[in-house]
Amino acid sequence: MRKIFLILLTFGLFACNQQKDNTKILQNRIDSLEIKIANTYKPGFGDFMSSIQAHHSKLWFAGQNQNWKLADFEVHEIMEAIEDIQKFQAGRKETEMIGMINPALDSINNAIEKKDPVLFENSYTLLTISCNKCHQAVDLGYNVVKTPDSSPFSNQDFKPLKDSK
Ligand code: HEC
Repeated sequence: MRKIFLILLTFGLFACNQQKDNTKILQNRIDSLEIKIANTYKPGFGDFMSSIQAHHSKLWFAGQNQNWKLADFEVHEIMEAIEDIQKFQAGRKETEMIGMINPALDSINNAIEKKDPVLFENSYTLLTISCNKCHQAVDLGYNVVKTPDSSPFSNQDFKPLKDSK
């Protein structure tokens, strides 16, 4: 009886130690994964803004050329970038304010759906005002966005393909 008890006790202690070892291994793996995640590259606020700047410009020339398919594409690129800011730059006060751009984006989207050039221009003005309002709100008032005069993208044709308006 005593022998059995001793055997069980030894086995129990062994199992307990084994469990401790496993926990330690897992903890080490979690620690090293956390370090890896912290060091993974993620785009900064400025990276998203530079991309938004390009799409803001292209959106204008698409609208001017009544290339509604391209305009639709560009406005959705801006929407995606805004969503990515909310995902990858969560917790920043600037990110909490980014939603102020949504009414203007919705308005442009509506103009594109209606293929209405006048509504497009008005909505575009509203969009640009919203960009600047946010820049002012986050002490970047010196960063002024405007309707572009000429396309910086000479390698892109903004005219619609025939029969695809
Ligand atoms: C949160 C509100 C917010 C909104 C809305 C917003 N921006 Fe910005 N923008 C910022 C912040 C913050 C920065 C600075 C990013 C950084 O830290 O580099 C910035 C920077 C920029 C820059 C400077 C990038 C550079 O390196 O020169 C441009 C251009 C820009 N935004 C364009 C736009 C355009 C175009 C829109 C509208 C379609 C817009 N932004 C809307 C907050 C905003």
